[in-house]
Amino acid sequence: MLSVTTATPAARRSAHFRKDVLDGLRAENKYLSSKYFYDETGDKLFQQIMACPEYYPTRCEMEIMQHQSGRMAQFFAEYSPSFDLIELGPGDASKSWFLLRELQKENAAFTYYPIDISSQVIGWLEDKLPVTLPGIHVRGLNGEYMEKMHQVNTFSPNRKIVLFMGANIGNMNVTQATQFCRQLHDHLQPGDLLLIGFDLKKNPRTILDAYNDRQGITRAFNLNLLRRINDELTADFDPDQFEHYPVYDPGSGACKSYLISRIAQEVHIGDKTIFFRENEPIYMEISQKYSLEETELMAVQAGFEPIHTFFDSKKWFADVLWQRQA
Ligand code: AVI
Repeated sequence: MLSVTTATPAARRSAHFRKDVLDGLRAENKYLSSKYFYDETGDKLFQQIMACPEYYPTRCEMEIMQHQSGRMAQFFAEYSPSFDLIELGPGDASKSWFLLRELQKENAAFTYYPIDISSQVIGWLEDKLPVTLPGIHVRGLNGEYMEKMHQVNTFSPNRKIVLFMGANIGNMNVTQATQFCRQLHDHLQPGDLLLIGFDLKKNPRTILDAYNDRQGITRAFNLNLLRRINDELTADFDPDQFEHYPVYDPGSGACKSYLISRIAQEVHIGDKTIFFRENEPIYMEISQKYSLEETELMAVQAGFEPIHTFFDSKKWFADVLWQRQA
């Protein structure tokens, strides 16, 4: 057995994955963490989800960025002539690209720091962005958000603007999301800015359909995690024996996805055995939806003041701009 200090990063990641999976499946209410959805196949399925007709959040936020990046850039340029622009989980930066272009038009002096857990994402952005946005200063950081935020603070005393888009905040429950924003607050200085993308409460059927697309891509996305566990942890899940079951509670705004065991069954993960009752759920993911008032309450609880909201034309999505308070 490898000791923690001599294990390679890949071996450490695999040991964490195994521990998280076993902890989740041995819990009284079984769960798996949605952060593990994104292996190579999961990334491809998520790309397909974003393109499917029912999944509106990406299109709504894209509309905001395409049409309102100029206004955002003005806000940022007025705030400070030079700053560090940090993006948490940028993906391919296809949405923030519009903002970066507008900032260049404004002659803003900024360095773009994308932070991502995937080294491929970071390498790709460092290679590609200077091609379409000549002259941009990009310094990608590969790792955990807060650790890398801390690192950016050691690079320069510049004003900071943080982007956390894509409704990624929705993949935490409200308490976790508030704590996360509080941590961001603690890594910023009074006056610094934070732009967060929230998916808003709307007709419950519209929301549920987004997580239950007719082509079955979201179903495949959830089931892919069982296949990943099979491949990486020598397990024997039969994905056909699990049913994708999303639910949306319009009161709380919690949209949750479960996999339901169709039968009583046992699954082996290495030398461990997990028992499932017929109809037993595995809680897979939360995609929390908010009212604007709820986002404002979160801002205040986390030590920020809301200063502007950018909506799409249907008001289904909001990119909110908050300022860190003293
Ligand atoms: C990444 N995240 C914001 C997506 C969401 O809407 O919660 C992940 C997703 N899960 C199923 N469809 C999309």
